[in-house]
Amino acid sequence: MSNRIITVYREAHFNAAHRLHQPLWTDEENKIIFGKCNNPHYHGHNYKLIVGVTGEIDPLSGYVIDMKILSKLIKDEVEEHFDHKNLNEELSEFNSLNPTVENIAVVIWNRLSSKLSPSLKLSIQLYETDRNYVQYTGN
Ligand code: NI
Repeated sequence: MSNRIITVYREAHFNAAHRLHQPLWTDEENKIIFGKCNNPHYHGHNYKLIVGVTGEIDPLSGYVIDMKILSKLIKDEVEEHFDHKNLNEELSEFNSLNPTVENIAVVIWNRLSSKLSPSLKLSIQLYETDRNYVQYTGN
């Protein structure tokens, strides 16, 4: 049987606080664009992350990637880094980058991607709420 391409998924969660604010805009403009997410005293979200790794099934192990390795990678690069943090105040990535769910997803993708074999394709879905989520595949 020739090698099949398949995607495996792993789900993870973290809680974090943020404030959406664009300093180039007036306070009034910020309130209109970002609404409650512009609250100067910050607010929290329970983020849900789904990491997808696409590649060939290894003929010996039957794995695309060992899930123990993937779960450890997510723990080290995402959960330890983001969980219970104030994204604006504590993470240098967001010093001059608005911590929207879009930008958080790109930061997470970059952190995970740098530790994965280049033969594997990484995709992530990041949920900020049950109804609002983004998908990023590195393009
Ligand atoms: Ni928010």
